[in-house]
Amino acid sequence: MNPVSARGSGRRTTPPRLRAALVSIATGVVAVGTTVALASGASAGTTLGAAAAETGRYFGAAVAVNRLSDSGYVGILNREFTSVTAENEMKWDATEPSPNQFTYTSGDKLVSHAEAHGMRVRGHALAWHQQQPRWTAVLSGTALRNAMLNHVTQVATHYRGRIDAWNVVNEAFADGGSGGRRDSNLQRTGDDWIEAAFRAARAADPGAKLCYNDYYTDGQNPKSNGVYAMVQDFKARGVPIDCVGFQSHFTAQSPVPADYQANLQRFVDLGVEVQITELDVEGSGSSQADSYSRVVRACLAISRCTGITVSGIRDTDSWRSSATPLLFDGNGTKKAAYTSTLDALNAGGTTVPPTPPPPTAAPPTTTPPPTTAPLPTTTPPPTTAPPPADGHCTASVSLSSWPGGFVATVTVTAGPAGLDGWVVGLPLPSGAAVTNAWSAQHAGTAGDVSFRNVGYNGSIGAGVGTEFGFQGTGDGPTGTATCAHA
Ligand code: XIL
Repeated sequence: MNPVSARGSGRRTTPPRLRAALVSIATGVVAVGTTVALASGASAGTTLGAAAAETGRYFGAAVAVNRLSDSGYVGILNREFTSVTAENEMKWDATEPSPNQFTYTSGDKLVSHAEAHGMRVRGHALAWHQQQPRWTAVLSGTALRNAMLNHVTQVATHYRGRIDAWNVVNEAFADGGSGGRRDSNLQRTGDDWIEAAFRAARAADPGAKLCYNDYYTDGQNPKSNGVYAMVQDFKARGVPIDCVGFQSHFTAQSPVPADYQANLQRFVDLGVEVQITELDVEGSGSSQADSYSRVVRACLAISRCTGITVSGIRDTDSWRSSATPLLFDGNGTKKAAYTSTLDALNAGGTTVPPTPPPPTAAPPTTTPPPTTAPLPTTTPPPTTAPPPADGHCTASVSLSSWPGGFVATVTVTAGPAGLDGWVVGLPLPSGAAVTNAWSAQHAGTAGDVSFRNVGYNGSIGAGVGTEFGFQGTGDGPTGTATCAHA
């Protein structure tokens, strides 16, 4: 059996990883690691989505809901793409036009379209300094922080279970040479606004990958160094982050950097996935085609570069249409850049490893109630009070709250003897209730709530910390947390 017929016959019914193994066997090549090179010149996929799926990746597009009535547009979308990013429909101004009044009609249409066609959804974006509703302009400090956290919680909760990856925070770093944060109303609420947004997003949708997304971070430069340091710090402190999105808007003045692949790789080495999230390349002809090809080849060389999204479908759909930056012209005809992209996808590369399970012990069982239409809270099972602190461990709490709800993150640190099980007591004010917890089992009611370790995080070495969290309704905890050996 020649390799082309082996791959061709396997494509229709066999999952990508098994298919990769079959190709190796058929060609007599022993697969090393997860790298699979397809036979040169072979055409494994006839569409972008099918070609990307050969190595376990998706190929997506930013989609605008008002174009779903254009049959030419939808025809290309449904034929070529396996992921959808909301171009504007999930941004803060679109989803919360008045304080705590949420509008999901447009975003829901996009998600329904994606689901009906077996596409993934990338949510974009929960917290960003641009495209905010007008009402945030008068807010600052705690009021703005709480409004942002409420927004993150409500939107991520609304879409819980339907989003593959969220751009939780977009474009928070400055363009200049400082490597520091961009000044914005959100940044002025305190440096920890980004981690607070990520914790709230994790609490609201534990199954979604949580990403930081930015532009001009595509090569190593002061801005990407700043993002790199933040991701490194988040990983060290257990702040939930799963991925970094690289927008990859390229122009003649800002072409694909020479170290594009190396830059993606250094982020992957921190323990996150990477994705290309808004790819477009100004220009035309072979130079544009070459740039697209370079980007695709860089991603496919890295097993944890899990997908590529272009920032629209036809040049005329682009937010910078005069740059003709996309893969289809205004008539929907495939450009040279389309062919080079498809060829690069079909040239093969690393295969994406399976996604590890989310870090929660159990999925949340209740939906945090929106303030506009409160849901009944559940009554937690009865419990006995946790023992008083016994010197074996300590617990410290960090709290993000908004009117009617909160997210608490608790760090348990073992004493000098280490621990093989722990229980944390944390009284809540009357009327407050826990709606879900992650990395801990909770029990008890307001004045008497306790959290026990789950299977994987009971044993902690001397002086080492582990983190759990919970979300609740009402006011958050104000008292001291106790920690005891259990
Ligand atoms: C753009 C949209 O494509 C336009 O329709 C809108 O008018 C402005 O925003 N970075 C991002 C994207 O993260 O959401 C932006 O999209 C482009 C820059």
